[in-house]
Amino acid sequence: MSLHCLVYTSLSRQKLSDDNIKYFLQLIRHKNEIEQVTGMLVYLDPFFIQVLEGEETTVNRLFDIIKNDPRHYKVSLIYKKPIAERHFSNWTMGFSKISYKDIEMLDGFSDFLQKPSIEFFNRSPNEVDELLYKFKHEILF
Ligand SMILES: Cc1cc2nc3c(=O)[nH]c(=O)nc-3n(C[C@H](O)[C@H](O)[C@H](O)COP(=O)(O)O)c2cc1C
Repeated sequence: MSLHCLVYTSLSRQKLSDDNIKYFLQLIRHKNEIEQVTGMLVYLDPFFIQVLEGEETTVNRLFDIIKNDPRHYKVSLIYKKPIAERHFSNWTMGFSKISYKDIEMLDGFSDFLQKPSIEFFNRSPNEVDELLYKFKHEILF
């Protein structure tokens, strides 16, 4: 048993309403419960940032499926690492929708705010963690 955490970012193909997201979360939470996957999905239109936690083989398999999902593109891995314990154990997939205004208060995001890009997330794993752990306390639904 080897617990791993994988974080990736991607771009949504379409603007998602709260209803779209609620429906989508219902489906993935059910699957994650069966697979014992926990984590969090952040939607900063049009970016997704997702943390997946679980058994290494399960997380790898799920990421392969997610990578090929036509609902998003430019899926890119930020990091994958072993963890001693889950950080999102309460959520089969917590969700937080955040705005650009929300991240103004975080350090290290000025480049991103001037020119939002997926490349920023790829080269800034520490900032991504900061964002995830800040909004972990503001899970929406
Ligand atoms: C941004 C994003 C995040 C996703 N997260 C998960 C997830 O945490 N768990 C999951 O099972 N599927 C997730 N999916 C959906 C998978 O890509 C895939 O559609 C689903 O697992 C297939 O389920 P099915 O084979 O039962 O139809 C996600 C898709 C997207 C676009």
